[in-house]
Amino acid sequence: MGRQHVSHDEIAAFAQDKVNLPKDKADEYRAQARRLREKLDGYLDEHPDFTLKKMLLSGSLAKGTALRSLNDIDVACYVSGADAPDDVQALLNYLAERLRKAFPNFSPDQVQPQTYSVTVSFRGTGLDVDVVPILYNGDPQWYGNLVSQDDGSFLKTSIPLHLDFAAKRRRAQEKHFAQVVRLVKFWARRMKQERDGFRFKSFMIEMILAKICDDGLDFSDYPEALQHFFTYIARTNFRQRIVFSDYYPIASVGTFSDTVQIIDPVNATNNVAHLYTTKNADAIVEAALEAGDAIDAALAAPTKQLTVGYWQKVFGSSFQA
Ligand SMILES: Nc1ncnc2c1ncn2[C@@H]1O[C@H](COP(=O)(O)OP(=O)(O)OP(=O)(O)O)[C@@H](O)[C@H]1O
Ligand SMILES: [Mg+2]
Repeated sequence: MGRQHVSHDEIAAFAQDKVNLPKDKADEYRAQARRLREKLDGYLDEHPDFTLKKMLLSGSLAKGTALRSLNDIDVACYVSGADAPDDVQALLNYLAERLRKAFPNFSPDQVQPQTYSVTVSFRGTGLDVDVVPILYNGDPQWYGNLVSQDDGSFLKTSIPLHLDFAAKRRRAQEKHFAQVVRLVKFWARRMKQERDGFRFKSFMIEMILAKICDDGLDFSDYPEALQHFFTYIARTNFRQRIVFSDYYPIASVGTFSDTVQIIDPVNATNNVAHLYTTKNADAIVEAALEAGDAIDAALAAPTKQLTVGYWQKVFGSSFQA
């Protein structure tokens, strides 16, 4: 049967070869972000009143969930709220101007405001660093108003607490939690490429898997963990509210009218999925049903060729075993 032809080990090998960002690359990009942060720290030592307070690697590189296709380095920058403009476009121009000041060895054109972030480009090697502003008023847990990369709105949240939340799940199922996150992100990326209007934010995928992890699923068998993820979406029709009690009591969460409800684990009033329409949700459910069926078929297929064919429905033609 199919499991003889493609088992956990083949999925793990595929992840290593085609899905994951290789460790030497991840180390290189993290070092690149660290150098930038240290440069700002150095400037702050000389100019303690400077309004950029801290830079922090955020996103998938910080969480160990980056894909091979990673194309920029996410860095959050805490901007002292008292002095900064609160209009997003003006804030980005302000952030760019301050970054140019703190990094005088970069030419001004290497620091460019984009729609919702500021890009710092390096000459020669490395990736661009995408700096996202967070309006900050000195909160000890680093809560601040993050500029949403989806629509430019301000979201009250704490990146360090998100990293802490993710690290807890990563420790609960060492290696395997992060690996299953990357495999599902790889699937979602392919769906986005192939299906018009398909969206499925990485942070949402991570929260769903965190819930499944907290419910006790063992992630060490990848075909099974993947199947569980797709079944969860199909079974709930992606309309079951997801909440966590790490940082606030579940009873304190109010009601939301949004179709998809995945509540920010560090802010009970922030629905991470609030932009997802019924149509977006239905497209995810349909894709999850198809992926789940393909995995069922793969696990039962009589020949290697058929088994690989079913896995390719999930991961595309780069899947070979
Ligand atoms: N709606 C949101 N509310 C609160 N925080 C958010 C929201 N969206 C993103 N974030 C923060 O930004 C980080 C990056 O989110 P994103 O969805 O880009 O995932 P990623 O892990 O960087 O994946 P990718 O590899 O796709 O870039 C999250 O870990 C979270 O801290
Ligand atoms: Mg990212």
